[in-house]
Amino acid sequence: MNKSVTANDGTLGIDARLFRLVAPVACLLYPALVSCISGVSPFFLVPVLLIPVCCAYVAFHTAGTGFLRTAAIAHFGVGAPALYSLMGQWLDSQTLVPIHADEVWLGLWLLLTAVCFADKPAGRSQAGASSRLATVHGVSALPIVLFVLLHLSNHLAGLRGGQAHVAFMLQARRLYRYPPLEIALVCCFVFQFATGLVLTWRGIVRGIADNWVKRLQRVSGAYLALFLLSHFSAVARARYLQHTDTNWVWLTSYNLLTDKWSDRLTPYYFLGIVAVSLHLACAARFVLVAHGTPATAANRVFGFVAGAGTLAAVAIMVGLVRGSLHV
Ligand code: HEM
Repeated sequence: MNKSVTANDGTLGIDARLFRLVAPVACLLYPALVSCISGVSPFFLVPVLLIPVCCAYVAFHTAGTGFLRTAAIAHFGVGAPALYSLMGQWLDSQTLVPIHADEVWLGLWLLLTAVCFADKPAGRSQAGASSRLATVHGVSALPIVLFVLLHLSNHLAGLRGGQAHVAFMLQARRLYRYPPLEIALVCCFVFQFATGLVLTWRGIVRGIADNWVKRLQRVSGAYLALFLLSHFSAVARARYLQHTDTNWVWLTSYNLLTDKWSDRLTPYYFLGIVAVSLHLACAARFVLVAHGTPATAANRVFGFVAGAGTLAAVAIMVGLVRGSLHV
């Protein structure tokens, strides 16, 4: 990386102040770009998706440099699509709070821009690699992976239309809505969320140069953390506060490309599936290499999981968007 961004010892150069502002300033633009999806053209999905990519780039290059706030804010910015959806759910439709998500967004990211501007490098931490916590995090992911495979297969069924999606969901719910299983699943997600946050923070603080796999795992994990917050809150709010069945009709009741509010959901859902597949692909590669698999073979597994997940994300979104057009 060029010296204006990273000095030889891996710390950010003093002249890299502008680089530190990239993530929060990109996030400031997020709502305006999202509104162009419905207001101007669905092709605005591309610049919208570039915002979290930009934040991921900054997160990759600031973790471990000592600029803790900048690195943490860049990781947080990766989750911008999920955060924007979460804030919209709670602020835009409420009469209780007389403030719009866009106003809170502006205030929040202006504040975080100032924090990044004023950030100073902290001393390098001697924190270890958290291998025990990472192992527990990996083991507790197994039931989650089974649920996610079932859940995403359900959404893939949506490619064949709403009836196929509903028929699949009614069968799948017999399993994951069985109260003891549902409670266990929610506990696994909460545990995964909490341990993931600790691992991400330790990774940001750690002064050693992690390889790209660890960095990608942290960045995709950061997105997933915000995705889960937003997703759980949307499903729980619909189920328990609005007494709505969270089925295909709920998912597709507003046009996901032309509705002024729902256009934010397309990048948010898409990146949720991409993030979960990247996170799993990194974990699979890490475990394989740790057990002696040659890097080239492990990379192939990484590519397969990440590629299959991204294709599934495209297919699921095609089904959902088509369903939301009601054609
Ligand atoms: C296109 C992407 C996605 C869409 C549209 C979606 C939609 C939904 C819907 C409609 C429900 C309610 C299910 C029901 O009523 O039976 C739900 C529940 C849930 N989703 Fe997703 N989901 C997506 C991706 C994900 C991903 C990637 C994860 C995990 C990383 C996830 C985790 C969950 C969880 C934990 C629940 C709650 C299950 C329960 O206890 O009832 N979802 N989702």
